[in-house]
Amino acid sequence: MDFSFYFPVKLLFGRPIVEALTEALETALGNSSRHPESASVLLISDPGLAGTGLVERVTERLHHDRWCVSLFTEVRSNPTVEDVELALEVARANEVSALVALGGGSVIDVGKAIGLLMANGGTYADYQWHGRPIIRPILPLVAVPTTAGTGSEVTKVTVIGDPETHFKKGVLSPYMFPRVAVVDPELTVTLPPRLTAATGADALVHALEALLGKRSNPITDGLATAALTRAWRFLPRATRDGDDLEARREMALASTLAGTAFDQSGLGIIHSLAGPLAAQYDLHHGLCTALLLPHGLAYNLPALDNKRATLLLALGMPPSASDSEVVGEVKAWVSKLGLPTSLGEAGVSGPDLRALAEEASRMVLLPNNPRPATASDCQRILEKAH
Ligand SMILES: [Fe+2]
Repeated sequence: MDFSFYFPVKLLFGRPIVEALTEALETALGNSSRHPESASVLLISDPGLAGTGLVERVTERLHHDRWCVSLFTEVRSNPTVEDVELALEVARANEVSALVALGGGSVIDVGKAIGLLMANGGTYADYQWHGRPIIRPILPLVAVPTTAGTGSEVTKVTVIGDPETHFKKGVLSPYMFPRVAVVDPELTVTLPPRLTAATGADALVHALEALLGKRSNPITDGLATAALTRAWRFLPRATRDGDDLEARREMALASTLAGTAFDQSGLGIIHSLAGPLAAQYDLHHGLCTALLLPHGLAYNLPALDNKRATLLLALGMPPSASDSEVVGEVKAWVSKLGLPTSLGEAGVSGPDLRALAEEASRMVLLPNNPRPATASDCQRILEKAH
């Protein structure tokens, strides 16, 4: 057995964001004795969070701690390179030396992209899919997730959409990690049930695919199993009662653990199918993973080795459970979340499935899936999910 594990992110878990942010910025800048006034910080967020007053509270605290702060709060929910270019203009105009990304995966991904371009020059398109090499670490970034799902605060990847097709192309490098992740579970309390369910399902699928992926290793297995157990148990609770702080805390932890795991071990067939599906129909990424979860798992179950027992233990099922019983339980879990349970219900048209399957079969994530899959296999999974 040989593997590597590289994780350079300082994680501050559980402290209120307004209390933790100055320490996080000092750590990110690498010199805690430096006077905050000498560093210009860009706070990146989205219009929804700006409307809740959270951005204002955080900005006030940063001003109080004497940081020089500029704002970009226009990140859209499926950001494209246009969002990145707009935010980059603000970052350049203010000569910022650090970034705070306060929001869901979209906001954190835009933060990584700005940090990349500030440090390395060029445009986002230059770097996507292993184009131009990244030669310098991104600008110091503090990532503050407000959803429990993407795990972007602890990963070295950003995915930004093409403005015409909305298809998301990733940029990945060990230089792309945020310097600090501040995970304050209370920030997720105001998330509505549907978004809680969709983002949380994404976290569970990250954990599942990290556990089963070909590049998994004993460290990612431990992280993925801990994430899977938590998301399976606590997502229905967090969805049912948003004020259930224990469930919110466990989901925030599940998301961060799953992000740390899949960043190193890769993903699989569910994410390979979810990418083209979300782009084509402008659907929420997490919703796509929830819709595909039972069917992607059903495809993989016959090919699992000793991971099958680990998986069933994490899901609280007996080792004797048959494949169809496992899939039945997973379907019941997804339907408890109150999300659509078929692609048809989510507005996906039957005749498009062939083209979606072709696209999924070309995804770079797919070779990491425990069971090889052709375009026809992908199409059969989509048909079952329809
Ligand atoms: Fe995902």
